[in-house]
Amino acid sequence: MHNREEAGRGAGEPVALWRRRPPAGDVEPGAMLTTRFSPKSPVTESYRVLRTNLQFLGLDKPLRSVVIASSVPNEGKSLTTANLGIAVAQAGSRVILVDADLRKPSLHRFFDLGHEVGLTTVLAGEATLEEALQDTHVPDLRFVASGPVPPNPAELLGSPRMAAVAEQLGAACDMIIYDTPPVEAVTDAAVLSTLADGVVLVVRSGAAAYNYAQRAVEALEKVKARVLGVVLDDVPPNGEGAYYYQYHGYYGRGY
Ligand SMILES: Nc1ncnc2c1ncn2[C@@H]1O[C@H](COP(=O)(O)OP(=O)(O)OP(=O)(O)O)[C@@H](O)[C@H]1O
Ligand SMILES: [Mg+2]
Repeated sequence: MHNREEAGRGAGEPVALWRRRPPAGDVEPGAMLTTRFSPKSPVTESYRVLRTNLQFLGLDKPLRSVVIASSVPNEGKSLTTANLGIAVAQAGSRVILVDADLRKPSLHRFFDLGHEVGLTTVLAGEATLEEALQDTHVPDLRFVASGPVPPNPAELLGSPRMAAVAEQLGAACDMIIYDTPPVEAVTDAAVLSTLADGVVLVVRSGAAAYNYAQRAVEALEKVKARVLGVVLDDVPPNGEGAYYYQYHGYYGRGY
């Protein structure tokens, strides 16, 4: 991926958006659910843009399952998964969020739920999917936690049993959104993407991000994942947006 055309081809139609990271500080995870608490904020609006773009990308065949991935840790995958899930549920779709980061599960924290029973429990045959599904405080938004951290996450996610669970999940909602560990570190997201309709790559803006993002796209394309586009996290406020424009150039077509 060396130029704009190649980037466009690699990333498919862009679903990129940008949002500004609020001032740092100790914030309760639940309070980060801007989409729930600040319906009018520009950040919430940007999640709605992402939702709408996903709808446009699914005009022929609606996207019913999406993997949220990123190349390296700490790029904002889990927060994006949670907020996008809320935005889609607020539009009236039945959503299930799945914490498929079986290495460092964190999605449950945003909803103040437990992760003792979840995906790995179901995969181990110790609970049914119905038993593992948790309600959240958002109507139409349900959650499957990770369950206990297993020794072999990639193997589990690539198992026929996981494919069966994905089908069951699909029958129980309009859209599944999977949170995953970093692509650069482990194959889990790539493995899971073969069960999903597409992948959204979260990229935290910064000088190093482009190379990593490029490698992540390559790793995902190797398994024939449909990379839908990029979400830019932590973009500097207007006026300092050099990276924004840089990415805009790399990934953007017509937005
Ligand atoms: N737009 C944002 N504004 C404020 N804080 C953010 C934003 N995006 C992410 N964060 C914070 O940055 C940290 C990392 O976010 P998050 O856990 O969503 O990333 P991740 O990619 O899922 O990380 P990991 O690879 O460890 O799973 C969290 O503490 C989160 O609250
Ligand atoms: Mg995470």
